[in-house]
Amino acid sequence: MPIYLDYAATTPLRREALEAMLPYLTERFGNASSPHAFGRAAHAGLDEARERVALAIGAQAREIVFTSGGSEANNLAVKGAAWAGKARGHRIVTTAVEHHSVGHTMRYLEKFGFEIVELPVDRYGRVDPKDVEAAMTPRTILVSVMLANNEVGTIQPIAEIAACVRRHRGVLLHTDAVQAAAHLAIDVAALDVDLLSLAAHKFEGPKGVGALYVRHGTNILAQQQGGAQERYRRAGTEDVAGAMGMAVALDLVVAERPVVEPQVVALREGLAVRMRAVEGVQETGHPVERLANNLSLVVGGLDGASLVMALDLAGLACSIGSACVTGSTEVSHVLTAMGYPEDEAKGALRLTLGRMTTEDEIEEAGRLIAQAIETQREAAEMPAAVSRPSAPGPDAGRAASEATAG
Ligand SMILES: Cc1ncc(COP(=O)(O)O)c(C=O)c1O
Repeated sequence: MPIYLDYAATTPLRREALEAMLPYLTERFGNASSPHAFGRAAHAGLDEARERVALAIGAQAREIVFTSGGSEANNLAVKGAAWAGKARGHRIVTTAVEHHSVGHTMRYLEKFGFEIVELPVDRYGRVDPKDVEAAMTPRTILVSVMLANNEVGTIQPIAEIAACVRRHRGVLLHTDAVQAAAHLAIDVAALDVDLLSLAAHKFEGPKGVGALYVRHGTNILAQQQGGAQERYRRAGTEDVAGAMGMAVALDLVVAERPVVEPQVVALREGLAVRMRAVEGVQETGHPVERLANNLSLVVGGLDGASLVMALDLAGLACSIGSACVTGSTEVSHVLTAMGYPEDEAKGALRLTLGRMTTEDEIEEAGRLIAQAIETQREAAEMPAAVSRPSAPGPDAGRAASEATAG
């Protein structure tokens, strides 16, 4: 069995979630909108799932909109807030390191006349709340900053950003918590956000299910029409089984966190220690404000995509942390924004651990990675890049993202 260190990409569906889903795929198969007994049984399941997801993040049930996953939740949040706020303004503030489901949605909105301000990050991938404050104008309608980054694991100071946003009446704050939910306690009141995205498959729930928290009284324009489901915020027959699987998985990840998180921290540190012993390997992301399970690296002089392929053959599943487009590999926009030059960013490797990761796997993974790096360097007859990071400073990131913001 290969070793799986790609939990940021997805996680296996846990048994308890599957078992909770099965009745809604079999005997309780009804359409939750039907008035008869079958429909009522499905509706009761949907109500229960909604209550449980809401409770897990400190929200009310009516504030949860089930979606088809994190991408849809992000699209609904950003487009929904943009179109609902258009009469008041057209300026949206975001960052250079968002997941493409936010970043590309911003590009899309630009085509309709919205002004997108992409804030820079420092070399650890953090946004400065002062930059958020400086970007606010009376025309600003939305700020969207992710809670934790999917590539390098850096956690953003959302509560501080919220404090800036609150000084400007009527501006909505969205956070993409898709990666964060497995590892951080999410409390929408403490974060003080209006919109928050979740995806079940990142915490051992089913794929293709997510949720958008929409603070009561927040106006967003639905992006799908044709039904009254989800209080008119998302038309379409609900996936009750998926919602139930998500609720059970979220409850369990929250309940087990005090035990699981220290284990993951220790295993990640064990792997980090092994990687620090390999010449020319640097850790990326914030040293402290980071997701417990994420070890992201750049390997000097090598191509991360080739390394991932070699590791796959050797029995280790991991990723480069950025999108692979058939045949060609995009250089990570996250590392670029953090100031890494293209040749260094190309050597990205993301190792993400999960509840089931064992010490033996970490030991074996450390050995396999060190060996693959050595083999690839020998093959390329390339000396190890010995220079430590060319200390990509905040200014480098600033320049890159200003160019994007135009
Ligand atoms: C930070 C972040 N946002 C959004 C998404 C998209 O979620 P989904 O795969 O459920 O559409 C992902 C998925 O990797 C992610 O990591």
